[in-house]
Amino acid sequence: MYVCLCNGITDRDVERIADDPAVRTPQCVHAALNAAPQCGQCLDYIAGILEEIRGDSPPQAEAASTF
Ligand code: FES
Repeated sequence: MYVCLCNGITDRDVERIADDPAVRTPQCVHAALNAAPQCGQCLDYIAGILEEIRGDSPPQAEAASTF
């Protein structure tokens, strides 16, 4: 399922890289996939996926306006 329509990132893309300790935030997910947040609508959702996979508290999404 697409989780980021702006960049065509899927939940499987996120799951594939979630074990990488360098991938701590939704912004890191984008960077690891050679993308950058655009509208920012996906950031909280991606944070939730990371939380679910890792079983820890969600990383804070930085404001989309910083991009
Ligand atoms: S949906 Fe991910 S940046 Fe727009």
